[in-house]
Amino acid sequence: MTELRIGLGERSYPVYVEAGLLSRAAGLIRPRVRSERAFIITDTNVAPLYAKAFERHLREAGFSCRSFVVPAGEASKSFVRAGGLLEEMLAAGCDRKTFLVALGGGVVGDLAGFCASVLLRGVDYVQVPTTLLAQTDSSVGGKTAVDSKAGKNLIGTFYQPKAVLIDTDTLKTLPPRQMRAGYAEVAKYGLIADADFWEWLERNGEKVLAADEEACRFAVERSCRIKAQIVAEDEREETGRRALLNLGHTFGHALEAQSGMDGSVLHGEGVAVGCVLAARYAALKGVCDAALPERTEAHFKRIGGLVPYSWTADELIPWMYKDKKALNGRINLVLPIKIGEAAVFENADIETVRRVWSEGRS
Ligand SMILES: NC(=O)c1ccc[n+]([C@@H]2O[C@H](COP(=O)([O-])OP(=O)(O)OC[C@H]3O[C@@H](n4cnc5c(N)ncnc54)[C@H](O)[C@@H]3O)[C@@H](O)[C@H]2O)c1
Ligand SMILES: [Zn+2]
Repeated sequence: MTELRIGLGERSYPVYVEAGLLSRAAGLIRPRVRSERAFIITDTNVAPLYAKAFERHLREAGFSCRSFVVPAGEASKSFVRAGGLLEEMLAAGCDRKTFLVALGGGVVGDLAGFCASVLLRGVDYVQVPTTLLAQTDSSVGGKTAVDSKAGKNLIGTFYQPKAVLIDTDTLKTLPPRQMRAGYAEVAKYGLIADADFWEWLERNGEKVLAADEEACRFAVERSCRIKAQIVAEDEREETGRRALLNLGHTFGHALEAQSGMDGSVLHGEGVAVGCVLAARYAALKGVCDAALPERTEAHFKRIGGLVPYSWTADELIPWMYKDKKALNGRINLVLPIKIGEAAVFENADIETVRRVWSEGRS
């Protein structure tokens, strides 16, 4: 088992990575929480696959548990859903020492984390991510959120979990489309912070997507290490360091939002297109050389990660102004400088943004 540490002073916590970890989770959770009362939040796809066995395992280890199942999909990341869940947990007798377990993908993780942060002014929670995206990105770092009509993730908190337990075996049941979506966040780490990792992905990306055990372990660990470092340096996205994790997200969120968040454009699918468009914008502005967007696009294309879109720039650009990075009516973009290095650029040139949206359209 690999143990990484998110170093945040008294809010520090471990991230455990191992194939088969779900069957020995109890012993890792117990020292990190204040009672043996677990409320498990999961979704309708994950519950039949993992929740029963996980509950049984916790019970056998002396925990009492109760599961709360939300409909699978981004629509569950809503204020209304969070409110309903909070009422249900209070009705079920949640007390200050009860801890929540987020068993599922980023939707469950963001929703459960948000609920944990406001329930009784904050209860403990543990992340047990089951998608590639959640194992490499959303479960680590303590950003919680629900979506608003005005845009993605606009209502949320910074609230760190007590532990993250990653069982890479769960990736074996993840549908290929979800693997490709999660892969976008993995590739993003290579682009912003780690050229060696990017090159490794160019050679081994297909293995990760095929849920090869060793390749997944490597990709998950390397991603978590990079995220751990960035989060420890800038927990609340104040210095610009953590903002680099948003490479491709200003474009990507616009696609997700314009699609109505109905599952037709997944978060990671938006990010993949967004990384390519950010690279094209950067090359047009002379921030990176012309080869970088080509290389980025070639890799995402090869792994089948680029979804087509037919919306116009006029439909998409308004969403970019609602991005959390937008300030005073200006769009700020994370741009690649070279493979393994990126920076935030303020006050994007809208004509160039318009051009890359139009040229990327199919
Ligand atoms: N908090 C953060 O820092 C952060 C970072 C990145 C993304 N996010 C958020 O994460 C969300 C996307 O997360 P996601 O891609 O995990 O989506 P998701 O949670 O919707 O999971 C994707 C699908 O896979 C199913 N699933 C989950 N695990 C499975 C398994 N092991 N086997 C079979 N099916 C499984 C789910 O039921 C769902 O249908 C977005 O809302 C995004 O905004 C948050
Ligand atoms: Zn993301």
